[in-house]
Amino acid sequence: MPQEETDWESLTFGYYPTDYNVRSYYSKGVWSRPELCADPMVAVHLAATGLNYGQQAFEGLKAFRCRDGRVCLFRPEENARRLQSSCAGIMMPEVPEDLFLEACQLVVKHNRRFVPPYGSGAALYLRPLVIGMGPHVGVSESSEYLFSIYACPVGPYFKRGVTSVPVVIQRSYDRAAPRGTGRFKVGGNYAASFRAMHEAYEEGYQGGCLFLDPQEKKFVDECGSANFFGIRGKTYITPQSESILASVTNDSLMTIAGDLGLSVERRPVPVEELSTLNEAAACGTAAVICPISKIVDLDTGRIYGYGSEPGPVCRELYDHLTGIQSGRLPDRHNWLREVDLKSETT
Ligand code: PLP
Ligand code: COI
Repeated sequence: MPQEETDWESLTFGYYPTDYNVRSYYSKGVWSRPELCADPMVAVHLAATGLNYGQQAFEGLKAFRCRDGRVCLFRPEENARRLQSSCAGIMMPEVPEDLFLEACQLVVKHNRRFVPPYGSGAALYLRPLVIGMGPHVGVSESSEYLFSIYACPVGPYFKRGVTSVPVVIQRSYDRAAPRGTGRFKVGGNYAASFRAMHEAYEEGYQGGCLFLDPQEKKFVDECGSANFFGIRGKTYITPQSESILASVTNDSLMTIAGDLGLSVERRPVPVEELSTLNEAAACGTAAVICPISKIVDLDTGRIYGYGSEPGPVCRELYDHLTGIQSGRLPDRHNWLREVDLKSETT
């Protein structure tokens, strides 16, 4: 759809066709130069490890139109490093950081007409993927891979702006195993959470599931496909766990919280501590900050309530994070990477 016809304000978080994706192929130990492709389809061997054994990892990051007209990526080096960690975790070759960053630049530049305007609340979402392409019927890793990035303009993951949603704790489901792949961003973790999340949404928990640590079910892990944090007084509290994804958003919020004079605690968070929090929220690239209105623990019957309106600290954190991302506030931590929209060489 041409840019003039897009209603940026009403975009939701979903697939939206754009002009180009970028691809690089790994074969004989070498990644090819990234190339632009207008076709959103991929020819995959039926016996590919990505299709048969879930040998696949992905990322998610955003490019924003800033107040001064620049288009900037938010902390893409962090996604590059996390993708390397995910690749190593499931025996895939690491995508070099400079290849990752070049591919990000290319895909934004060539889809620049889909970067939503400043102030719309929307952004261009980049979805890097690494997929095992080689045919292996025996259970072993591929020697051939595709690294690709596609892009979609997206609005908020939940509802427009900051609204509060209920979430549920159900001990009958885990998204990841202890010492499994929970700390990697691999597709299998998401398939593993589909049933639990589907049931949560069906029961009216718009924020989905709050997963507990899979070993003992005593500590809070993460909130669907987002990290969890709570506010108690002037303290930002977020779980430390081996089975959760290290969120770039959460890391940024910890820094912003420090800037705002909060103390930050990253440590195991016992479920009972939920009753001591004044505010609770999910955070991530897609979710940004999604305040939680209540957490219903189905097994114990306890309900932890935080109010139907977002709390003051969540609001302040949201304003600061989105302010930095959109260039409305100074980028004191050097998180923005401008996309070169003019260069002829890329
Ligand atoms: N946890 C999970 C399981 C996720 O899928 C995501 C999304 O990427 C996050 C947390 C948040 O991470 P980030 O802030 O880097 O997007
Ligand atoms: C993100 O926040 O970028 C995610 O990847 C979450 C979800 C859409 C998978």
